[in-house]
Amino acid sequence: MDVILFGPPGAGKGTQSKFLEGVLGVPQISTGDMMRAERKTGSDLGKQFDQYMSSGLLVPDGLVIGLLETRLRMRDAVGGAIFDGFPRTLAQATSLDSMLGGLSRKINLVLSLEVPTSMIVDRISGRRVCLDCGQAYHVRYSPPPATGYCGSCGGTRLVQRSDDTESVVRTRHASYLAETLPILGHYGGQVVVTVDGTGSVQEVTEQLLSVISAR
Ligand code: AP5
Repeated sequence: MDVILFGPPGAGKGTQSKFLEGVLGVPQISTGDMMRAERKTGSDLGKQFDQYMSSGLLVPDGLVIGLLETRLRMRDAVGGAIFDGFPRTLAQATSLDSMLGGLSRKINLVLSLEVPTSMIVDRISGRRVCLDCGQAYHVRYSPPPATGYCGSCGGTRLVQRSDDTESVVRTRHASYLAETLPILGHYGGQVVVTVDGTGSVQEVTEQLLSVISAR
């Protein structure tokens, strides 16, 4: 099954993708995580990503599509994937269609998480991520099991993401409204299901599972 988890910054795409991986048995493919990993290596490509990510602008399609294409060819994605943060432009959506078409696959479901802007700011400002393994927490809603320690890898470097400042979040949200939200129209009404993303993590997971099990 190929599923897109769609929604504005901070809607809970990454959090929910991790649960859905176990349920659907397919990997989460997060272009944001892949770019952060590349940035960490200090490569020229990582530096190019950083120019855009640090200001909240979308990375140019040519760079992102190449990255996605390589990832989609990996063995663990042979039976499907959960796309988190991709596609974000119409060009990315049409490229994904043709990549999947070449594999005799198509997008089966677009789960669109709806969360109001005030909640996005609250969620993003309280997010902390583990510098070692990337696990995300929220200081109030999903705190790490022991203060200052990552529950996944035991790391002690829980930090705020560099693009989680208020001004950068505003730019990311503006990019979402201008360039990403309109691509929902690219997918037919049968494929797109809107899910209320305002409940607790568990409540949202339950809603997503009920949509998936009804398919
Ligand atoms: P990316 O990493 O994709 O960021 P994003 O889309 O802005 O999404 P976030 O990671 O901020 O939010 P999320 O929805 O995953 O929320 P999360 O689950 O973490 O992209 C970053 C940058 O990379 C972009 O700005 C761009 O520059 C570049 N980029 C990436 N992909 C690109 C592409 N395809 N094309 C071009 N450029 C690209 O949750 C947020 C917080 O809320 C966490 O603290 C979490 O614990 C908490 N939380 C989650 N759910 C709940 C809940 N139900 N209740 C309470 N708290 C919750």
